[in-house]
Order: sequence, then structure tokens, then C-alpha cells
Amino acid sequence: MTGTEDLFTPVHKGLRSMIYGLSARLQTNDFADLPATAALVTDLENDFSTARSAGCILCMFATHASEEDTVIFPPAARFENSLVTSLLAEHHDLTRRELALGKFGHELMALPSAPDRVAAGVRLNQMANELFVAYLAHMNREESELVPRMREHFGDPEQAAMRGTIIARFPPDRLYALLGWMLPSMNATELSDLLSSLKKGAPPPLLKAVSDLCEARVEGHRWNEVRTRVGL
Ligand SMILES: [Fe+2]
Ligand SMILES: [Fe+2]
Repeated sequence: MTGTEDLFTPVHKGLRSMIYGLSARLQTNDFADLPATAALVTDLENDFSTARSAGCILCMFATHASEEDTVIFPPAARFENSLVTSLLAEHHDLTRRELALGKFGHELMALPSAPDRVAAGVRLNQMANELFVAYLAHMNREESELVPRMREHFGDPEQAAMRGTIIARFPPDRLYALLGWMLPSMNATELSDLLSSLKKGAPPPLLKAVSDLCEARVEGHRWNEVRTRVGL
């Protein structure tokens, strides 16, 4: 089999941008400022069922790993059991770190004094950085080790079907929140390929929704280049 699909890199680009953005907010946050800190902690929830936002960052991390666990890893494990077992163990480690970070965020919010929150903010940053290092290394492994194996074992239609299964499970608001991170994180060639395939095969309302999201979120000069290439 010589597939060309890559189920991992486009979504990982979005997740990397989330990490860079959240990291920048964490290291500049004034933990004495309760409203600002409350907004930050909202993005450190791990579970959409309890989170207060469809764009909650750690929820998107957790959902991404669980989609891989249920849709991609079981068929991949038939051929690459030891690699998949190792990546699955990393997911469990990431989940533990996410839960600990969210819990510590709530504990920080409950501290009565500003100096105590500022001191706890140092630890919160350290915990977040440890999670981000582990998450970035994990995504690098999936791209460098699993993507080539997936292409060996699965043809493009099979991998596209896995992607379709994952997308179909997303509630629309969550899908658009994720795309809102992915689209501005992709280069002009990747965006052009995506928009071309949507132009050929997707229902017009989906093409329109993704184009509108690009218009709103992708840097102007890159989006103009994509529109020219695709003929939009
Ligand atoms: Fe993963
Ligand atoms: Fe991943």
C-alpha cells in the first residue's frame, strides 16, 4: 500500500498553535487579577461535559487523543502493535497531566490572597510547560513514526474514511472551533489542497462555511493566495 494521506499533521498544526497561544497567555498572566485568571483557567478544563466553552483548549487536546484511541489506533495496532501501545501509554500520561493542571487551576482560583495566587501561578506555568513539552514530543512521534506506517498499511480511501468518522462525531460548534485553529495554522499549499477538495466534493454550504472561516481567521495575504490558486 502506498497511501499519501496524513491524518495527523493538519490537526497537530492547530494543536501546536493552541499550545503556543496558551503558553504565551500563561506566562504573561497576572494571577492577582481574578477575572483574567478565571478566563485563563476556563481553557484548562479537560472535559467538554463540564467545560464552559466549546473552544476550551485542554478539552480539545483530550478529545483529539480519544479520537485517535477509538478510530485510528485500533486498526493501526493490527500492524504496529508495539508503536500503538507506546503512543497509547503517552495518551494516558497526557490525560493525567491535563487533569492535574485543571485541578490545580481551580485550587489556584480558590486561594484568598493575590500574593498566594501569584506564587501558585509560577507552579501552574511549570505544570503547563511540562504538559506542553510532552504533548509536542508526542505529536512529533505520531507524525514521524506513525504517519509513514499508516501510509504503508492503509490506502487513501481507508484513511479518508477514518477522518470522516472522526469529523462526523464532532458537534458543529466544536468542529468550527477546531477548524478556527487549524486553518490559520496551515500553509498556502495545504489550504489550497483542502479548499480544492472541498470545492470538488463537499456540499456547497460546507465549502462556504470553511471559506468564511478562512476569510475571518487566515492571514489576508495567505488567504488571497489560496483563493487565486483554487479559483474561489
Ligand atoms: Fe496522540
Ligand atoms: Fe495526535
